[in-house]
Amino acid sequence: TFILTLLSCILLCESKTVKEARHDVRKFPDGFQFGAATASYQVEGAWDADGKSPNIWDHMTHNDPCSIDDCKNGDIADDFYNQYKRDVEMMRELGLDFYRFSLSWSRILPTSFPDKINEAGVQYYNNLINEMLKYNIQPMVTIYHWDLPQKLQEMGGWTNPHIVDWFSDYARVAFELFGDRVKNWITINEPREICYQGYGTVTKAPKLNIQGVAEYMCAKNVLVAHAKAYHIYDKEFRPTHGGTIGITLSALWYEPETESDVELAEVVRQFEWGQYAHPVFSKTGDFPPVMKEKIAAKSAAQGFKRSRLPEFTSEEVEMVRGSSDFFGLNHYTTNLVYKNESLEGYYDVPSYYDNIEAKLYQPSHWSAGASVWMKDVPWGFYNLLTKIREDYDNPPVFITENGYSTRGGLDDDDRITYIRGYLNVILDAIEEGSDIPVYTVWSLMDNFEWMRGYTERFGLYEVDYESPQRTRTPRKSAFVFKEIVRSRALDP
Ligand code: NOJ
Repeated sequence: TFILTLLSCILLCESKTVKEARHDVRKFPDGFQFGAATASYQVEGAWDADGKSPNIWDHMTHNDPCSIDDCKNGDIADDFYNQYKRDVEMMRELGLDFYRFSLSWSRILPTSFPDKINEAGVQYYNNLINEMLKYNIQPMVTIYHWDLPQKLQEMGGWTNPHIVDWFSDYARVAFELFGDRVKNWITINEPREICYQGYGTVTKAPKLNIQGVAEYMCAKNVLVAHAKAYHIYDKEFRPTHGGTIGITLSALWYEPETESDVELAEVVRQFEWGQYAHPVFSKTGDFPPVMKEKIAAKSAAQGFKRSRLPEFTSEEVEMVRGSSDFFGLNHYTTNLVYKNESLEGYYDVPSYYDNIEAKLYQPSHWSAGASVWMKDVPWGFYNLLTKIREDYDNPPVFITENGYSTRGGLDDDDRITYIRGYLNVILDAIEEGSDIPVYTVWSLMDNFEWMRGYTERFGLYEVDYESPQRTRTPRKSAFVFKEIVRSRALDP
């Protein structure tokens, strides 16, 4: 009896926000769009083909190969550069409305600047876009998905305020080259991963590891660079081209472990994703107040006269505020937040540097994917969608990534359960008033999963890395997703 009570308590406690299971066929609203995503470095390969110059991932993987779990790199990756026709065929097999991919900055502008446009690189993206449009698959283009030209990194990368111009000049080139056909733009993918992981720690290239300083310089520059590109599009291109443009943020859900952790969980959310969402989607055009207070207090205690968190000028505030047509959301999983150090399995919150004494925790009975952080927790997604609706005045939310990792194999029932569960709570949120018109699965196919190399697989299609063509084979989830897209519904 004790064990049964304990079990039901665990289930009830954690499912406190789960809606009752539905037994009816649930239709997606008219106009709802389904897509799949990849990013340049993760799939293209052709790392030095036709005039492309190296980016920070080429540099890191070539200089320190075993910084990647399997000591592999993206030199060939999925050979998307050459196999793109097969990939468009897969998009058609799935019946996708759109496909999200990113542009490689150093393929289009090998010097990093618009002084020389690499025609061969441009031709490649034209071929891809035209092939998609032939079959009425709309391109959704991410201008920057982490593959900074190495040359710009050597000039300080995202910590150098000049990157606002470097990036917005590059964005203008992209709008000029492809804006006649591309109507959905994402400026920058996941600032948190760029800044905290790349500049505050060693979790991603360029592994700068200047916590509490470089990560915040990066955060400010990313936001202003994004905003500048947004306004260029809005003023110079939208009047003739139409289209939408926005930023994509990563946000996990952080659930308080106990009543006394409620406030702490909110602090964690504001550090983890409010840092990027608040300036753009709140009325303030500025970092979240709690973040400003905590960093200023810690900076003062460290003897700094000024906060380590840079300030936006009033002109920048105006630029950044409201600079996104939609809230681009990449969401994967949930963590519990608590203070109590005696629980097992915790890890520190990244922002520990600024005295956020929170621990994060994922109970071991949560269904787990291949990535250490990957747990299937649809109710967390529901809570996140509710909070975005309430905090930011119900912006349109484009789900620009959601997906599940395995170690490979064609029978991927866990991925199917995950995708169906997460789509189900999207329908719940829509019923409650959220504006969610777009869902993008990560990923169309297996690819280079950054520091994890090819050890974690996110694809609806499996990729055989032993074969020269990088043969793609649909997994069970591809057939299930195809049926969801075809019927525009979730069956019970
Ligand atoms: C988010 C990133 O945008 C993408 O590049 C990555 O592969 C997935 N998450 C999975 O970790």
